[in-house]
Amino acid sequence: MDDLYSFLKSLTYSSLHILVDENTKQYCLPLLDQKVLAANVIEIKSGEINKNLESCKRIWEQLIKAGADRHSILINLGGGVIGDMGGFCASTYMRGIRFIQVPTTLLAQVDASVGGKLGIDYLNLKNIIGQFNDPLQVFADPVFFKTLPKRQLKSAYAEIFKHALIKDAEHWKQVSKIDTLEETNSWSQIIYHSINIKKEVVEADPFEKGERKILNFGHTIGHAVESFYLNSKQAYLHGEAIGIGMICEAYLSHQKNDLSEAALNEIIESLFDVYDLRKVPTRYLDDIIALMSKDKKNKDGALMFSLLSQIGTCTYNVSCDPNEILSSLQYYNDVLSQ
Ligand SMILES: NC(=O)c1ccc[n+]([C@@H]2O[C@H](COP(=O)([O-])OP(=O)(O)OC[C@H]3O[C@@H](n4cnc5c(N)ncnc54)[C@H](O)[C@@H]3O)[C@@H](O)[C@H]2O)c1
Ligand SMILES: [Zn+2]
Repeated sequence: MDDLYSFLKSLTYSSLHILVDENTKQYCLPLLDQKVLAANVIEIKSGEINKNLESCKRIWEQLIKAGADRHSILINLGGGVIGDMGGFCASTYMRGIRFIQVPTTLLAQVDASVGGKLGIDYLNLKNIIGQFNDPLQVFADPVFFKTLPKRQLKSAYAEIFKHALIKDAEHWKQVSKIDTLEETNSWSQIIYHSINIKKEVVEADPFEKGERKILNFGHTIGHAVESFYLNSKQAYLHGEAIGIGMICEAYLSHQKNDLSEAALNEIIESLFDVYDLRKVPTRYLDDIIALMSKDKKNKDGALMFSLLSQIGTCTYNVSCDPNEILSSLQYYNDVLSQ
């Protein structure tokens, strides 16, 4: 985290504030330089459930109480919740103060910290209030992963798989072969590369008019599976559900978009290797497909997908009908029964 300190030294600001939750306060804050630690610490409760207006009020109030002005800087030290919400609060405080992202989860490093999407949940709708705005800088350091639950680390790896599959066949060769995620010592290189793939896609289409849609690979079906199980005891983490989504959507890519059978098999083998997945009971399939009709990418009632044409290449706006989606979920179940 030396880089953060030297970056701060190069800036002029009136006061420094750090947003944390109870976990990043305990595990991540002590890893920062003493000079950075002298900042005003703002703490909120952890978890998606607290990515809401109440927490924002608390953050704004703390900034006001500490005398933050337009020349202040907010450092967001935490996972995607802290990054999205802290970025949102900074961008609205006094019509916008500068903020720096220090993502401490793998998901926040490879996904949430790139692309400028900020926001909070409201009325049970995820990320419904927010805006696009870029941080001054992002400092992604794997040093934080030591305290991260292994399940979280694995889950977030789905986004690394996804970035490689949609844009970079060479990177896929590397990331699909990692045996024990927890023990890899190539994190810095993998994260750097993965972030750059997302960056390239986002820079080509910042407001998701076209090309950026390829980042949705695995997410149309994945989001529906995630939402369906959200309040159950067997809830999937985001990346686990996206793993299921990528298996189904790789199947659709084979059926509709020229992805070869060999490539399909290679993809599903890697995904089934990493994730502990369960069958989706047949009686739920229709409900899951119904959830997809609410997807933001749909056009005139048709369900739109981003599908691979080969490993490393993805196309978007491919429409699939409910029967095709159903067979992809059945395919997923079939592979699990083998
Ligand atoms: N802006 C975007 O483009 C984008 C992209 C993907 C996800 N997201 C958002 O990111 C959020 C999910 O991100 P997340 O998985 O990082 O969630 P999170 O911020 O809730 O972090 C997960 C848990 O890990 C804890 N934690 C964080 N760092 C830790 C560390 N180093 N050691 C131990 N515990 C630690 C947190 O306190 C929390 O309990 C969602 O709200 C999602 O909407 C945003
Ligand atoms: Zn995702």
